[in-house]
Amino acid sequence: MSDDSAQQPGERISSHIAHNARVWNYWLGGKDHYEVDEQVGSMVTSMYPSIGEVARADRAFLGRAVGFLAGEAGIRQFLDIGTGLPTVNNTHEVAQRIAPDARIVYVDNDPIVLTHARALLTSSAEGATQYVDADAHDPQAIVEAASGTLDFDRPVAVMLLGILNFVVDTEKATSIVRRLVDAIPSGSYVVLTHPTLELGGEGNAEAMKFWNENATPPITARTGAEVAAFLDGLEILEPGLVSCARWRAEDTEEAPLVAQFGAVARKP
Ligand SMILES: C[S@@+](CC[C@H](N)C(=O)[O-])C[C@H]1O[C@@H](n2cnc3c(N)ncnc32)[C@H](O)[C@@H]1O
Repeated sequence: MSDDSAQQPGERISSHIAHNARVWNYWLGGKDHYEVDEQVGSMVTSMYPSIGEVARADRAFLGRAVGFLAGEAGIRQFLDIGTGLPTVNNTHEVAQRIAPDARIVYVDNDPIVLTHARALLTSSAEGATQYVDADAHDPQAIVEAASGTLDFDRPVAVMLLGILNFVVDTEKATSIVRRLVDAIPSGSYVVLTHPTLELGGEGNAEAMKFWNENATPPITARTGAEVAAFLDGLEILEPGLVSCARWRAEDTEEAPLVAQFGAVARKP
C-alpha cells in the first residue's frame, strides 16, 4: 500500500495493529493492507487454513444474494453495513448490472475503507451510491445518514455480511438488527453472513483467540441457533440458514462447506 493512502484520514489509520478490513483484503488476495495485516492474516491461516476459502465464499454469496434481490425480488435499495475494502463485484456493481437504477449506501467505520470509498462511488447514471463513515453500534445514525439516498418507505435490503461477529455482545447485536428491521417496510430483506464454530469450524476457536489478542476489532463466533435468532420475525428464504457457500450455489454438492452461515430473510 502506498504511503499516500495512509496519510488521508491519517490519524485514525493504525499501521501497527492488524485491522479486519485490511486482513480481509489480504485473505481475498487484494493489495490494500500493511505488513502487520499480512503477518496476522498468515498466522490465522496457519491456525485455520480454510479462512481464505471462507472469505471467498462470503463474497460469492454476496454476489448470488444481491443478484437474487435485484433480479427476482425486484429490490432497488441496498444498505450494506460493514462493506469492507472495495474488491471485485461490490454490491452496487452486482445490483446495477441487473437494475441500473439501484441505489446503494455503503457503511463502514474503518478509516482505510473511507480512504478507498471513491471506488465504491462509481454509480450508474440512473442509480446512486453513497458512503457513510459510521459505526454499526449506532443504527439510528446509519439510517439517518442513509435516508439522503434511500427511501425508507420503500423496500430496502439491509446487508450484514461478516459484521455482527464484531458486535460481541449478543444482546447489543440483536438490538442493532431490531432497530434496522424496524426502519424498513414490509417486503424488505435482511441478508447476513456470520462465522461459527459449527459446520466444521471448530478449529477457528484458537485462531479467533489469537485474533482477539493481536488485532482489531474483537470478534466472536456464534451458533446456528444464535444467528437464526437475529432473524426472528422474518421469513428465512430457502434453503434457510446454511453454509454461505451452499446458499443457492450452482452445484451444492461441489460447494465447500465453509464455517460461515449465510441467509436471506424477508420482512413480512
Ligand atoms: C469481514 S469484513 C466483511 C466485508 C464485506 N461485508 C464482505 O462480506 O466481504 C467486515 C467489515 O466490517 C467492518 N466493521 C467492523 N466493525 C464495524 C463496526 N462496528 N461498524 C462498522 N463497520 C465495522 C470492518 O471494517 C470490515 O470492513
